[in-house]
Parts: sequence; structure tokens; C-alpha cells
Amino acid sequence: MKPKVFVTRKIPREGIDILEKTCEVKVNPYNRVLTKDELMKEIKKIDGLLCLLTDTIDKEVLDEASDLKIISNYAVGYNNIDVEEATKRKIMVTNTPGVLTDTTADLTWALLMGIARRIVEADKFTREGKFKGWDPMLFLGSDVHHATLGIIGFGRIGKTVAKRAKGFEMKILYNDVQKAPKEVEKELGAEFVSLEKLLSTSDFVSIHTPLSPETHHLIGEKELRMMKKTSFLINVARGPIVDEKALVRALKENWIAGAALDVYENEPYLTSGLSELPNVIVVPHIGSASIATRTKMATMAATNLVAGLNGKVPPNLVNKEVLAYLQ
Ligand code: DGY
Repeated sequence: MKPKVFVTRKIPREGIDILEKTCEVKVNPYNRVLTKDELMKEIKKIDGLLCLLTDTIDKEVLDEASDLKIISNYAVGYNNIDVEEATKRKIMVTNTPGVLTDTTADLTWALLMGIARRIVEADKFTREGKFKGWDPMLFLGSDVHHATLGIIGFGRIGKTVAKRAKGFEMKILYNDVQKAPKEVEKELGAEFVSLEKLLSTSDFVSIHTPLSPETHHLIGEKELRMMKKTSFLINVARGPIVDEKALVRALKENWIAGAALDVYENEPYLTSGLSELPNVIVVPHIGSASIATRTKMATMAATNLVAGLNGKVPPNLVNKEVLAYLQ
């Protein structure tokens, strides 16, 4: 009998094709996130789950999963899954690292450039027929070239953002729990500094750290007040890393010049007041949303799932300690 797999949302066809070769596949038929009850009902009957960052796989959900062997997350971040509980139940957890690095770094740059040069405001102005001719004082923004970029979280995506910054001849600062090797710092021209120094001296602060209990509200009122009045905050990592209420105050009261966000503290909801501010760009969590990258994520997530169900070690296993229980 083929193993049963449930996919919690429509994903690119290439991923489903891989699953269908060896598994009995059901895809969520609705164009929406499943409710917890719906998810709990589906998870009862399956061997493999391919889920998204919008699905919370907590203890309560896992309690229903009597046959589940593997959870394949269609994302690099897996803060939506209680990995410890999954491990206790001998369930493998996988993610999709690497394939979305460049695409997410590209979006970081789109947001950074967009907020610095007021692209969204200027586009709206032009569409509204307000452009009456070249004006020396029209939409004056901030320079990106030769500015200082502060990167919080110097993993794959943070480093790729730094690589692109070299083209703008920027000064690059970074902060992480771990200092990068000297050769990497040299190659990228990046300097390790304390979070305080990064916040107080950068013109652009870009967040690329995973969400964990340690990084929850890493950027709150105190940190926002440390930033320069002329500086910008960019977040393409996870919303709860920033205290969004404090950010709204910072933007309203001009503690900082602006923010560009792809992720939100209570996705898909935005803190009241955020979307009315002119000095903010808000996009709907599209960091990895290119056709090529989402296709690669689908094939990677499917390959992980199939490997796990075939008794192999999936290429992108997050909870390696589970292997000790499975031998
Ligand atoms: C991820 O993979 O964690 C991204 O947020 C998806 O875009």
C-alpha cells in the first residue's frame, strides 16, 4: 500500500508530481489555510505531511498524528513546528534551505531601495495624475550607495544581502550569535559589531535571523530608539522579531525614517496604524515568491518527504536527533 500524504495548500505542480510517483496524495482543496480542527482531522490518517509556515504544528495537532513519520515544511524557517514534540514522537522534520537564499536577498534589496528612494509613494503620486513636471524638491529620498548597512543574522540570506551591498560600495556591519570566519568577513567586507553599535551607526538595518525565544522582540522600543533618525528598518525574516507596536510608534514619532516589511508580528494581520503610514512599505510575505524558487521549494520539500517515507535520511533533516530513535 502506498503511504498517505497530505499537502496543506496548493504548491507548484512539480512537487506534487514527485509525491504522486510513490504516495497517495491529497491536497487541501480550499484556497485558504486550514483551521486547526481541519488539520487535526487530516493528520490522523497520514504518514507524511507537507505543510507551510502558516500551519501551526503544535503538541495538540501532533497528538492526533498516530501514523505520521515525517513533516516536510515548505519553508526554510520552521518556527511553526514544535520540533521538540515531533522528535519525542519519532517524527522527522525537514525544511527547504538554500534554494530561496538569493530570491529572498533580492527582495530585501527591492525593499531597501524602495523605501530609501520612496518608490511606492512616488508611483502612487504619478498614477494619481499629480506629476506636473520635474520638481527640484519632489520625492527627495536617501542615498543607498556608500551608506552603512547593518545586517542582523549573518546566515545564508544575511551573507547574500551583504554580497549585493558591495555593488553599492556600502560599509557592511553585522551581528550574529556567532562571528563569521575571518576569510568570510574579508571576502564580504563585513565587520562584526555589537547589536548596539549596529543599531546606532547603520543607515539601513536589515533582519535575517531565525525566530526563536531568544530573537522574539529582539527589536523593541529600546532598540528602535538606538537607531538613527535618518535610518530604515527592513524585515524579511519573521514578524515577531520586531515589536510591531513599538515600530508603529517609532515610525509615527520619527525615531527612525522608515521601514520596509515583508513579515508581520501577527500575520496576516497588521498592527493598527501601520499601513496608513507613508514612511513604510508593506508587502505580503513574498520573500521567496519567484516562480523558479517556489518550484525549487516544492521539489525539495517533496524529495525530503519521499526520502523519509522510504526509510532514507531526508537531505534536509532539521531534527537529526530523531535518527537515534529510528534505528
Ligand atoms: C521561509 O522559507 O522561511 C520563507 O519565509 C518563505 O518565504
